[in-house]
Amino acid sequence: LKIIAETKIKSAHDLNTLKELKVKFLGKKGELTSVLRGMGGLSPEERPQVGALANEIRNRLESLISSKTEELEEEKLEKQLREQTVDVTLPGLPLTVGAIHPLQAIWEQMEDIFIGMGFEVAEGPEVETDKYNFEMLNFLKEHPARDMQDSFYINPEILLRTHTSSVQPRTMLAKEGEVPVRIICPGKVYRRDSDDATHSHQFMQIEGLVVDRGVSMSELKGVLLTFIQKMFGKETEIRLRPSFFPFTEPSVEIDIYDPQKGWLEILGAGMVHPRVLEKSGYNPEHYTGFAFGTGIERIAMLKYGIDDIRHFYNNDLRFLRQFQSE
Ligand code: PHE
Repeated sequence: LKIIAETKIKSAHDLNTLKELKVKFLGKKGELTSVLRGMGGLSPEERPQVGALANEIRNRLESLISSKTEELEEEKLEKQLREQTVDVTLPGLPLTVGAIHPLQAIWEQMEDIFIGMGFEVAEGPEVETDKYNFEMLNFLKEHPARDMQDSFYINPEILLRTHTSSVQPRTMLAKEGEVPVRIICPGKVYRRDSDDATHSHQFMQIEGLVVDRGVSMSELKGVLLTFIQKMFGKETEIRLRPSFFPFTEPSVEIDIYDPQKGWLEILGAGMVHPRVLEKSGYNPEHYTGFAFGTGIERIAMLKYGIDDIRHFYNNDLRFLRQFQSE
């Protein structure tokens, strides 16, 4: 019994086997216990000898089991430590770096250029009233832009703004007749167009407005030429064509010259209409102003040579990754 038990204990490979062996040999129903129980049948001379032997075996097995338990526990811990080590020499996972969206990049660049010329950035709501989107800007009641077919109306008085020009009266009213007014306002605008390569039902504009004493058409031209040359290069030529907007008089459209494509329209502008100044609390006898508006998508398309406005909104990573360094 002793020899069998010893070899089995020594060759146990895990803690569970060891526990089982302990029960098998030393437990209440174990083999050694049954030897002790069988002692009743022995002669009085044999009993102390067998008893002493049994006790010796028990002590021996107990100490064997406890040292083996220790040994196995240590092994288990070491194995765990070995398996859980981190190999710090393995190459790391590459980090993916995002790119600024081309529209965001142009927006920020335009803001920087105009801030450099003394403009402040203003804001206005995208859900706008007929009053600020049309009425205060001298649109006649029957102007086609006011048609339900051309604009997104929420009710007859409220619509999604069709241009950022709605911030002109908002800004002037907030200023309460104070000068100078010198703001730009970037933001989303909405029109009921069918989406195609050059149209989108939602796009972005940047509006500009300057009101002060003695503001002239030449200042308008100087500011916009500076902006265009900073954006497209200092050799870029511009051309002013007469145009019409209800809220400016005279009105112009500004083209830039592209060696490949010729003259391309990029801006609407003009001197603020006296009636617009008056409606917003500025006496046109004392003050003049100019305003301009341009599409951020349009500028981005010209600058980066993008041929379809829908690329900006599709979130195709192959398109967006090209701007990684912008
Ligand atoms: N609001 C005009 C448009 O959306 C642009 C514009 C702004 C024209 C300011 C003149 C002055 O087309």
